Amino acid sequence: MYDGGKIIAGLLIGLVLLTFPFWYNLGKAAKLPEPKLAPEAQKAKQCVESKEYMAAHHMQILNKWRDDVVRKRYRIYIGLNGKEFNMSLQNECMKCHTSKKEFCDQCHNFVDVKPYCWECHLEPKEAKEGK
Ligand code: HEC
Ligand code: HEC
Ligand code: HEC
Repeated sequence: MYDGGKIIAGLLIGLVLLTFPFWYNLGKAAKLPEPKLAPEAQKAKQCVESKEYMAAHHMQILNKWRDDVVRKRYRIYIGLNGKEFNMSLQNECMKCHTSKKEFCDQCHNFVDVKPYCWECHLEPKEAKEGK
């Protein structure tokens, strides 16, 4: 004879397993990236341009900096509030954003972009976690 309770329980477990990838991914998709500002950046209070502008256009700024330095030998960029910046990925951006992992990578992993810059430019040495 069939045991109705067991069949229903079996069906329920089957349903949960079948739909697992769906609701598991729902949970993940809802988690937006949280880039953490390093203490160095917090102390500086402002970025090269406004936060909104940086979030949307930092790639263009980096491209412009590279062209200006490599082709035109310019070194100084006048940014937000007339502040001067040394146009350098390693020596300027990463001086404030001292953790690539906690900052840059938080967003990049989310949108799945992998800038190849670090094949040549040095990334900051990450502080060893828990050691
Ligand atoms: C003088 C320190 C400093 C430098 C140099 C600097 N940043 Fe920032 N950055 C900050 C601060 C502080 C914020 C947060 C600004 C705010 O909340 O108004 C920020 C914000 C950002 C954001 C937006 C983050 C978000 O959560 O939306 C991006 C992207 C960014 N910076 C990238 C860069 C890049 C790329 C460079 C080099 C071209 C750079 N930063 C140079 C201090 C700096
Ligand atoms: C607030 C989220 C956020 C933060 C923080 C952030 N990025 Fe990005 N970055 C993006 C997004 C989104 C893209 C992809 C944009 C596109 O494809 O149009 C991107 C693209 C780039 C690119 C171009 C890559 C390519 O292959 O086209 C570079 C270079 C880059 N980021 C450098 C940095 C650096 C360096 C930092 C840390 C100092 C940083 N980003 C922090 C969101 C972020
Ligand atoms: C194949 C090696 C290589 C790769 C990959 C590379 N760069 Fe460079 N980059 C250089 C060299 C060499 C210079 C010239 C250094 C100088 O004149 O100070 C330079 C200069 C720059 C400069 C201006 C000077 C400085 O100190 O930062 C910026 C900004 C820059 N690159 C950004 C980028 C970004 C953003 C990426 C990734 C999207 C990238 N680079 C990928 C080799 C590379």
